[in-house]
Amino acid sequence: MSNSSWGFLLLVFSAFFLNLDAFELRKGQKTERISGSAGDVLEDDPVGRLKVFVYELPSKYNKKILQKDPRCLNHMFAAEIYMHRFLLSSPVRTLNPEEADWFYTPVYTTCDLTPNGLPLPFKSPRMMRSAIQLISSNWPYWNRTEGADHFFIVPHDFGACFHYQEEKAIERGILPLLQRATLVQTFGQKNHVCLKDGSITVPPYAPPQKMQSHLIPPSIPRSIFVYFRGLFYDVGNDPEGGYYARGARAAVWENFKDNPLFDISTEHPTTYYEDMQRAVFCLCPLGWAPWSPRLVEAVIFGCIPVIIADDIVLPFADAIPWEDIGVYVDEKDVPNLDAILTSIPTEVILRKQRLLANPSMKQAMLFPHPAQPGDAFHQILNGLARKLPHDKSVYLRKGEKVLNWTAGPLADLKPW
Ligand SMILES: *[C@@H]1O[C@H](CO)[C@@H](O)[C@H](O)[C@H]1NC(C)=O
Ligand SMILES: *[C@@H]1O[C@H](CO)[C@@H](O)[C@H](O)[C@H]1NC(C)=O
Repeated sequence: MSNSSWGFLLLVFSAFFLNLDAFELRKGQKTERISGSAGDVLEDDPVGRLKVFVYELPSKYNKKILQKDPRCLNHMFAAEIYMHRFLLSSPVRTLNPEEADWFYTPVYTTCDLTPNGLPLPFKSPRMMRSAIQLISSNWPYWNRTEGADHFFIVPHDFGACFHYQEEKAIERGILPLLQRATLVQTFGQKNHVCLKDGSITVPPYAPPQKMQSHLIPPSIPRSIFVYFRGLFYDVGNDPEGGYYARGARAAVWENFKDNPLFDISTEHPTTYYEDMQRAVFCLCPLGWAPWSPRLVEAVIFGCIPVIIADDIVLPFADAIPWEDIGVYVDEKDVPNLDAILTSIPTEVILRKQRLLANPSMKQAMLFPHPAQPGDAFHQILNGLARKLPHDKSVYLRKGEKVLNWTAGPLADLKPW
């Protein structure tokens, strides 16, 4: 039997089961509990487990920047803004720094957008440095640990390496002043200079209300086998090809553009969100960075994410069993993607779909406003709470210095 007729049978088959599944879901029987490696931690309540002190900074570090460009509320790095708002009114916030477990510095480093809305990270290092200078001279807490009990939200492509090209990001490395702090970032890749031990990998921001408004009835069958919308080549930034997405997206296009099981294109239709709800598998290949908002969209829309990004570290990986939910395909195996996906047994597909249907899974991917129990804000706090108590070694002796304030490119040392 050819792949495509086999695939067609599978579609009919899974569409049938999906209907059944949706029905059973309504009776509240057939969702599977998500049990993370750390136990059933997605439903943990962080309140009472940690106290966070929010530094008060001049508004030029946050609110004023946002006023200049309100588009920052909607792009995929917007978590830095919503996390700030969330913490200001969260019951974990303490106004007494003496009793704080964690210190948070609200700097919006990704709110400098090109006319097309692309965030530029070039001023971020100076801005971050300036903020740290300010907190370390006005409060005693930074010097006590040189940031080891401080956390920062750095959602840019390669986190605190502050560059969107991997080569340059690696060359820069993590901003020297942040080397003891806990970084909350979207970037996650094993053994990479831009991901330090102990960082918390979070989902990128995807607009919750907008996604909600595109939900279609779960009874509509998933008649698309594989779905993808996005770039295959980035000719502007990678004219010779092979560097963008390490060639993985180009390989998807070259191998499957004419394959009827693959609904792939660069065109972004207005039915994009609906289409994901009609698909069994949604490709989540790396782009410039290994992660993209597609992962969040796939989870929200119950489409099994096919993760093509070697060594990626997925959001809240200590709480979410991603191997059970998604499918990992090595970048080098992209040419066999059709065979890999069509050979997954139906019962395995159904189990992944049941796990994806679990509301706690979807909740953990979102930054809703106002916040809701179990959402991404709460998962970040849970992650911070799990790191407590701090090891005694984080507290420096009086006068002891570890960080080098003059390290890094000269341009980063200029005042902001
Ligand atoms: C912290 O250390 C820096 C650099 O040594 C110093 O300039 C600053 O005054 C110290 N901050 C406080 C609050 O003592
Ligand atoms: C700090 O970094 C600068 C620039 O890399 C270097 O010249 C200097 O020796 C370093 N200082 C210490 C104390 O390591």
